[in-house]
Amino acid sequence: MPGLLLGDEFPNFEADTTIGKIKFHEFLGDSWGVLFSHPRDFTPVCTTELACAAKISDEFKKRGVKMIALSIDSVEDHRGWSKDVMAYKGDAGSALPFPIIADHKRELSVLLGMLDPDERDKDGLPLTARCVFVIGPDKKLKLSILYPATTGRNFDELLRVIDSLQLTAQKKVATPVDWKPGDKVMVIPSLSDSEAAALFPNGVTTKEVPSGKKYLRLTQI
Ligand code: BEZ
Repeated sequence: MPGLLLGDEFPNFEADTTIGKIKFHEFLGDSWGVLFSHPRDFTPVCTTELACAAKISDEFKKRGVKMIALSIDSVEDHRGWSKDVMAYKGDAGSALPFPIIADHKRELSVLLGMLDPDERDKDGLPLTARCVFVIGPDKKLKLSILYPATTGRNFDELLRVIDSLQLTAQKKVATPVDWKPGDKVMVIPSLSDSEAAALFPNGVTTKEVPSGKKYLRLTQI
């Protein structure tokens, strides 16, 4: 992802979308945001992904996260495809609960490093990869994931990482492998034991390891 690193301000781009022209920062307002790109409209894996995203859109809303998709087709194509997506979800006739950006000139895809050089359309032009960007209320990039066009994403995992991002933005903790809300969390290494004891009233337990180093500190939030 050339040029855009974790912690960078996300570009305040203007784009045509299925809800009209937007300026990205204004679209986000004070919310968190998730922008996910797709190779192309009317393609099978993308359709399963958008249907899943639509199905769990209330979960993103609950977390205060605004969703927006992107692919390199026109608004008109997006509108037609949205009908297919909602029918595939089993909700024919309902509106897709989030907008889709029309990046038919691929300008945004180039700006955000989203093109997949291995997947090309019939004219030989690269398609968009399956990128995910999570943007914080401060408009900074908190997470990016990049999948090739041929591998669909797991949207439950996106909710899980958003739970982790939102928790770790508030508390001096880190979430271990496969963490989910309610599980114990790790005290971050930069906190001293006395700082940790003061910050975590539920107590901190340290897992003994052969090195004798006391770095595996767990607490319940
Ligand atoms: C798909 O969404 O099914 C797809 C799109 C581009 C390349 C491969 C698969």
